[in-house]
Amino acid sequence: MSDDKLIFTQKQQELMSMFKHGQLHRLNLLEGSVRSGKTWISLILWQAWIAEQPKNRFYLMTGKTLQTLKRNCLLPLQELIGENNFDFSLSAKEGKMFGRTIMLEGANDAKSEYKIRGITLGGAYADELTLYPEDFFTMLLSRLSETGAKLIATTNPDNPGHWLKKKYIDVPDINMLCIKFLIGDNTTLDPEYVSSIKREYQGVFYDRFILGRWVTAEGAIYTTFANDPKHFVISEPPSDLAIVTIGFDFGGNGSAHAGVCTGITRGYQQVVTLDEYYRKQVISPETLITDICDFIVRCQRKYKVFDAYFDSAETTLIEGVRRAVSKRKIKCNIRNARKGAILERIRFYQMLQGTDRYRILGCCPHTIEAFSSAVWKKTKDGSDERLDDGTVNIDNLDAQEYSTETYQEIIGRVENYNYGG
Ligand SMILES: Nc1ncnc2c1ncn2[C@@H]1O[C@H](COP(=O)(O)OP(=O)(O)O)[C@@H](O)[C@H]1O
Ligand SMILES: [Mg+2]
Repeated sequence: MSDDKLIFTQKQQELMSMFKHGQLHRLNLLEGSVRSGKTWISLILWQAWIAEQPKNRFYLMTGKTLQTLKRNCLLPLQELIGENNFDFSLSAKEGKMFGRTIMLEGANDAKSEYKIRGITLGGAYADELTLYPEDFFTMLLSRLSETGAKLIATTNPDNPGHWLKKKYIDVPDINMLCIKFLIGDNTTLDPEYVSSIKREYQGVFYDRFILGRWVTAEGAIYTTFANDPKHFVISEPPSDLAIVTIGFDFGGNGSAHAGVCTGITRGYQQVVTLDEYYRKQVISPETLITDICDFIVRCQRKYKVFDAYFDSAETTLIEGVRRAVSKRKIKCNIRNARKGAILERIRFYQMLQGTDRYRILGCCPHTIEAFSSAVWKKTKDGSDERLDDGTVNIDNLDAQEYSTETYQEIIGRVENYNYGG
């Protein structure tokens, strides 16, 4: 591939000029905002660097998972340099680039460092580096032992206590080349697209993913909602509800039993909280199960709701609900909530609220209060955690999230919503 067919942004040009003048370091990190052109130029750089490397060495490309590696890097790389120059097989976990062997690996769990033990690498490419376990990265560095071996990595910023920041970026002796990319650096983007991307992020995630800063999560979580809850409150349900579900979080130890009924409008455009249940008392399992059945029946009188998602940790209670529902001949599937990563659930609702795709009926004061008052916890290591000490209502948020988790991806796709980049 010749560079003259491609037009680089100024920031990208700076990086390529360093490469051409032999100024890359052993460790090279492209970090900063989403859509800032980091991945795109990192792939150009990687293939240009690989093309100059010995053929008899092993090279490695890693991602949080093999699937995200494929989506973020392998397919774009193939598009950039053509299938003749780069081909890969995820099942074989191997690719060939200009006749060189590229191993492929996911860094998704604590055990993943075993996967790269013992190999000797001439170079490595790492996508979304902050999402890796530290052990995996330590192992990766120890494997980069061939003369002139290099790492090329990209990441979005995380909290300032993150291992990558504290132990690498901020340590002068490590001598890592860090280049900061900002969304404004990517002059190839349509300004309207940039403003729509900006609306998807709030608070700490705006600071990290848009402004490219390594900052601690503090204060309100749902800033757009908290600043103006009334904006989101409606008095009548929308007329174009396509899917209605229930989410339920069992309480205990000072937390409330909480349920919500959620509607999704046609085309996955809007998410609307339609009804809620809230009880912060010590009650018997029988009373709770009766309450739940009554809540489902109440929702079914108003909406076509046939799926309810429950906190999957409470298997005995879920079984109790299943039996009671069957006994009362209530037609509703009692399902286990997926309980995916909390940060992704949080950012999903931030995205909906930021892009004005969330509404809530006035009859749901507890959920309104929950979105208004949710705050980040002050953690020792600075990591991101939603405060859950009984002083704020997290229970309705959990229930809210369970109700939509199954649809999170497809609802997100409507606006090209993306978790990072
Ligand atoms: N120099 C360029 N020419 C054309 N398109 C570009 C260029 N740089 C980036 N892009 C495009 O801009 C978008 C965002 O770039 P990407 O590298 O994915 O950003 P990041 O990894 O920082 O999130 C992608 O669609 C990418 O293809
Ligand atoms: Mg990227």
